Amino acid sequence: MESMVRHLHEAIKEVRITPAEWMEAITFLTRTGQISDNKRQEFILLSDVLGVSMLVDTLAHDTTSGATANTVLGPFHVSDAPHYANGADIRLKQTGEAMWVAGGVRDTEGRPVAGANLDVWQADDSGFYDVQRPNDLPEWNLRGQFTTDGNGHYDFITSKPLHYPIPSDGPVGDLLNALDRPFIRPAHLHFIVTADGYAPVITHYFDDRCPYLQYDPVLGVKSSLLTRFEPNVEHSGSAKSDSVKWTARCDFVLARGGDDPSA
Ligand SMILES: [Fe+2]
Repeated sequence: MESMVRHLHEAIKEVRITPAEWMEAITFLTRTGQISDNKRQEFILLSDVLGVSMLVDTLAHDTTSGATANTVLGPFHVSDAPHYANGADIRLKQTGEAMWVAGGVRDTEGRPVAGANLDVWQADDSGFYDVQRPNDLPEWNLRGQFTTDGNGHYDFITSKPLHYPIPSDGPVGDLLNALDRPFIRPAHLHFIVTADGYAPVITHYFDDRCPYLQYDPVLGVKSSLLTRFEPNVEHSGSAKSDSVKWTARCDFVLARGGDDPSA
């Protein structure tokens, strides 16, 4: 707190904040709280667009461990998503083009991690999460939890996600508008990967051909987190080949250590 107060005072002296400007700042923070609830977290969004989420995350993680890089949790995670068997389809509303997501979870020695839990969530083909459109989208649309098999593998069917604007109808949107900053997040899939005895990984995989990769408003893109959404040839000749047009491979490496760095 001493450091925080010292830097806050320095910033106010440097910019020579007026009483009216400070009241505007207090109003902004008040609105940020008022628009937040258990489905919308404007303070996380604020932390994200200020680059603070990524900074805290970077400081908390040993980037030399060989584990998959972390990135921002984002404001749209909902705990306790339904558990599904591998191969399940998490589209509760059939929109857009289907995509088969598959991969493996390994330790830093390359050994498969069986029984790892993958908590996945994403936007749909229009760029919306279920919680943003509760009247149009079923609860838990494009969300689910999967468990790796004995070879460390998992897979599921989903909808190919689209890039999307972060919510712009609240105080964070007003802030980005005032700063003339971009709103569009590149297309991505969210994952939380956990396993007993390993440090959890909270991350995304991004579409490496998304035109918005360079302009992520929450600064979450890392080169190691790019994957390619490719035409699905894996299922050629099977019933899935006609209906599942895309595939994306998302592999994860977990490092030993039970400490939860997000704690
Ligand atoms: Fe997202």
